[in-house]
Amino acid sequence: TKSDVLVIGSNMIDLISYVDKMPIAGETLEAPEFEMGFGGKGANQAVAAARLGSKVSMITMVGNDAFGQQQLENYKTNDIDITGVGIGTKGSGTAPIFVDKSSDNRILIIKGANSELVPEVLDKYLDLIKDTKLIVLQQEIPLETNYRAIDLANEYGIPVLLNPAPGNKDLDISHVTKVDFFTPNETELAILTKMPTDTLSEIKAAAHHLNELGVKNVIVTLGSKGALWVHDDEEQIIDSIKVKAIDTTGAGDSFIGAFSHFYTSGEDIPTALYHANEYAAVTVTRRGTQKSYPTAAEFKSILISE
Ligand code: RIB
Ligand code: NA
Repeated sequence: TKSDVLVIGSNMIDLISYVDKMPIAGETLEAPEFEMGFGGKGANQAVAAARLGSKVSMITMVGNDAFGQQQLENYKTNDIDITGVGIGTKGSGTAPIFVDKSSDNRILIIKGANSELVPEVLDKYLDLIKDTKLIVLQQEIPLETNYRAIDLANEYGIPVLLNPAPGNKDLDISHVTKVDFFTPNETELAILTKMPTDTLSEIKAAAHHLNELGVKNVIVTLGSKGALWVHDDEEQIIDSIKVKAIDTTGAGDSFIGAFSHFYTSGEDIPTALYHANEYAAVTVTRRGTQKSYPTAAEFKSILISE
């Protein structure tokens, strides 16, 4: 195949401020540190899979500015195929992010050129879409583009994973039932099903509901508690490992990218989920988004030293 993993999605420049306290309206506060880095949920997932050794292609739109050129360089550095990378007319997507002392983050996204990844763009890259082991989607590009990608994946018989992040109440369930892997967190699951997801039994009920509607594998990410996998009327919790979190930004993306890598390398679903949990756990112990994603070799050595 042309690629193991094809990510159709976003890229952003992350502008991360590490803050002790968020200012209120009209207030000026000093924050201890700032870092800029490569982000965007699509690009993050692509980079995680590539650093683990997958052959990765991306269909994405970078901005018509210096950030866009840096994104292109970043794909090359990470061995990601850029045949499907276009340059938009708008500026690059950016994400001001605030990470507080308890490692929680607040993220704003300004989509920029990502909003120019319209369904018609996909028609230029049918050969990439036809020839991959897994198509991976998120929700920082127009929903219509994801719908078109899902239809193409179904038509060509390619498995497709939809990570419904950030949550979008306009996501239409009739498209979701056509994906092979649907990977919401609790909030995203509640938005789609309109069911409560405050307790584990509520989360299970909502996940089973989607499975009954036709989603083959519902994978609910539970943060430090691991992941819930519901398929064929059955359920399984895949635990995570315990770590001290410093910065959880992009951890969810690292999980998706790692799962995509391990699954397309031939691991069965629960094993791939377990390894993806481990990978995401390592990333939260390090600062930054893509910057905190280890390579396969680093990942192995960190796990051994734990
Ligand atoms: O999931 C984390 C990502 O969300 C950040 O990299 C930011 O760019 C936003 O897309
Ligand atoms: Na991190």
